[in-house]
Amino acid sequence: MTTLANAAAAPRYLSGFGNHFATEALPGVLPEGRNSPQRVAYGLYAEQLSGTAFTAPRAANRRSWLYRIRPSAQYGAFRPAPAGALVARFDEASLTPNRLRWSPPPLPRAARDFIAGLAALGGNGSPQSHTGCTLYWYAANRAMTRRYFYDADGELLIVPQQGRLRLVTEFGVLEVGPLQIAVIPRGVRLRVEVPDGAARGYVCENFGAPLRLPDLGPIGSNGLANPRDFESPVAAFEDRAGRFELLTKFNGRLWTAPIGHSPLDVVAWHGNYAPYRYDLRRFNTMGSVSYDHPDPSIFLVLQSVSDTPGVDNLDFVIFPPRWLAMQDTFRPPWFHRNVASEFMGLIKGVYDAKAQGFEPGGVSLHNCMSGHGPDAVTFERASAADTTQPAHLEGTMAFMFETRAVIQPTRYALKSPQLQRDYDGVWRELTSHFSGAGRSPGRRGR
Ligand SMILES: [Fe+2]
Repeated sequence: MTTLANAAAAPRYLSGFGNHFATEALPGVLPEGRNSPQRVAYGLYAEQLSGTAFTAPRAANRRSWLYRIRPSAQYGAFRPAPAGALVARFDEASLTPNRLRWSPPPLPRAARDFIAGLAALGGNGSPQSHTGCTLYWYAANRAMTRRYFYDADGELLIVPQQGRLRLVTEFGVLEVGPLQIAVIPRGVRLRVEVPDGAARGYVCENFGAPLRLPDLGPIGSNGLANPRDFESPVAAFEDRAGRFELLTKFNGRLWTAPIGHSPLDVVAWHGNYAPYRYDLRRFNTMGSVSYDHPDPSIFLVLQSVSDTPGVDNLDFVIFPPRWLAMQDTFRPPWFHRNVASEFMGLIKGVYDAKAQGFEPGGVSLHNCMSGHGPDAVTFERASAADTTQPAHLEGTMAFMFETRAVIQPTRYALKSPQLQRDYDGVWRELTSHFSGAGRSPGRRGR
């Protein structure tokens, strides 16, 4: 039996980051003054979904109360499911210090939904330790209609690069397209539709502390990603019975269980643990207006903090269109080596450190202390640029998942036909401009 599903309606949103929202798809569902009354309106079940330890400090504590048609406990036994390239083991390929770059994955020819289209490229840590992440790309061309998914291992930060996604979740519906992101908290059930027929992008599965907005320090009370620009869905539900499949990623493996109804049957909810979306075009970009190129932490959108203050498990950083005004400065990202490891993607346009080879939908990986920076064309152009005049970077959006731990590429990633075979060649044409040859103090001293 399939009945009215108001999750099919155009989604509506609630504005704010980490707010305690209260929303209902039918009037009078949310109980007054208590979370779990003896009887809930419309005969619904009350249940809590906790995303942090019960005793987490109030500022970090995240939980929501859900009022649903059937309890989330109602499903059959899980058994292992074929996982393809979705499941990653970070010990199966030898860890390499090499800089790596991939061309974008092709869109699928055969039918493939979002879960089947996820392929793990690398990661670190483990779900068991609640630290680290897995980094994926996805390419899909079919809606999930009879199967639902939740990730017990981490929250999902989804970065579409091509084509929109319609994320039908327990909490309501989120629509996202390129230049937007969505975050699905750990444990939240959903199915994914592809309204444009095909979709491609990136996913970071964060095993660590839930993503949050960074403190702003001397920047002040405004800037970077502003809280009011984050949107969580208004409650919407499916009342749908049938023979469906509930998939979960649990402890690094994919599992499947039978379920006789849509688990997206939450008629109302309140709390601060909910999916959200954000439009990257709303990022209030900060930068230098005198000289020098600031550290990329100035572009931080969201962070997963670790137990060490100032050292994050995971940072999500973007490189949006912006004015470059720094005088007598090499304006693109400089040559550098980092203690952190950097997984970069490109949503649109050209990244300002690479003239070619880093394509929208592609990936680069620069691990701990691997030297990298602009290619020869970019170096020559930026060295000759007139920095007395400001310049506007247009039509671009690159991003980075930056992690504390080294990112282990998967066997799938190292065997992928999209892996570029001579990425090191990017820096081969950078020649010595040294004008002091034959004048070294050491030679004079002999
Ligand atoms: Fe870098």
